[in-house]
This record gives sequence, structure tokens and C-alpha cells, in this order.
Amino acid sequence: DADTGSDATPGSEAGGLNLVTPGSLTVCSDVPYPPFEFEEDGEYTGFDLDLMREIATGMELEFTVQDVGFDGLQSGVAFGAGTCDVGASAMTITEERQQSLTFSDPYYDSLQSLLVPEGSDISSIEDLGGMRVGVQQGTTGENYAGENAPEDAEIVSFPSDGEMYASIQAGGVDALLQDLPVNIGHTEDGAFTIAEEYETDEQYGFAMSQDGTEELVAAVNEQLAALRDSGRYQEIYDSYFAE
Ligand code: ARG
Repeated sequence: DADTGSDATPGSEAGGLNLVTPGSLTVCSDVPYPPFEFEEDGEYTGFDLDLMREIATGMELEFTVQDVGFDGLQSGVAFGAGTCDVGASAMTITEERQQSLTFSDPYYDSLQSLLVPEGSDISSIEDLGGMRVGVQQGTTGENYAGENAPEDAEIVSFPSDGEMYASIQAGGVDALLQDLPVNIGHTEDGAFTIAEEYETDEQYGFAMSQDGTEELVAAVNEQLAALRDSGRYQEIYDSYFAE
């Protein structure tokens, strides 16, 4: 809006943000992946999407969510199709992904974990010999299993966390290797437990294309910093992760 009188308002600059749909921030995610992204009462919510909604508001933009598969998002394919401005999907910043994507400043520290049925004999990744371990396709958990599970473990890749969880519930796999906060969600009904945690030192970032996104990346980082300064980041964090 010209009448805000502020040239520094990112959303008001002509063309600089190069948005898929002008006036709207189109956020792509792989939903559900609680507590980071899920639907509640017909609304997209979760730690990532609550942060992104506030970032969009701070940029004076509408907030739109597109539910896309995680693999296309992390590989950058989803951006090439011109469908996403920002990927907000609990995505770990990795050197490999930085070849094809630009990341915001980190917004969450994470680690990997092994989920097993309550009473299972599996107490460590070493025990997976001859067993089936479910992972999500294209994730850091899939990489971790590939690098650390015994050679005779069978690694079964699923397109989504929901399908992994359904499989372990049906006895299709013996364990799941996934980000700890998400696996913790799967322990809530008491049927599953966390056998082991892995300090992988992962940091999540919001992903953007590398082409023409200089102003978008700067604006997202600026809004993220403002949310930290105002205490709003901490409020949202506590609403999902407080003890
Ligand atoms: N943090 C892991 C990664 O970056 C898993 C993320 C999966 N996210 C999702 N919304 N399914 O590979």
C-alpha cells in the first residue's frame, strides 16, 4: 500500500518478492506431521504453520497453505513448478539441500529417534538386523537409517509419516526412524515407545527457491527475528513444546 508511507514495508515493494500469487504467501508443507503441521477444526496449524502465518501477517500478506509431498519439497522440485513461495515442513537444513534451495535462519533444533512397540526386544539401532525399519522418503531419518542400521536390516521407505505409523500399527514394520518430536506424538496412546535418540544436531529452516528470492528470504528472516524479539516465538514454542 502506497499510503502506509513506508518504503521499508517488504510487502509493498513492486515485484521484489516475486510471489506465486501476488498479495499472498503460498506456504507448502507435508501435512500431517504433528506437532509441526496438522489440521485442526479445518485450519492449518502446528509450530511451523503458526510461525509462517505470523510471518505472512507481518509481511502484510494473505497466508495460503498447499499440502504437497515432502520428497518433492526437500528436493526443490515443488518450487520449480511455481507452486510454493516457502516450504515450511520441519525441513532440516543440510548441505545437500542447500545445493538446490535457500534456507531461512534456523528456527528449531531437532534430533532423530527410534520408535518401537511397547515390549519390543529392540532397544538400539544395532538390534535391527533382520528387522524392518520404516522411514519417510527423502528425509534425514532415511539417511540416518541407511548409514547406521545393520546391513541386513530392511529399510522400508514411506511417502508420509502417517503411512509409516499405520504400518507399524499393523505390524508391517518393526520400528520407525523419524524426528524425535514426531515419534513422541506416536507414543501418546501407550502402544509405542522411544527405544533410542540420536543427537544429529539438526536445525530446521524455511526453504525457498534460489531464483529471485533474495528479498523474500530477507523478509522472512526479518519477521522471524521480530517474532523472537517480541516474545511471540517463545509463546508459540511453549504452546507445543513446554513440559
Ligand atoms: N526433519 C526431517 C528432514 O528434514 C524430516 C521432515 C519431514 N517433514 C514433514 N513435514 N514430513 O528430512
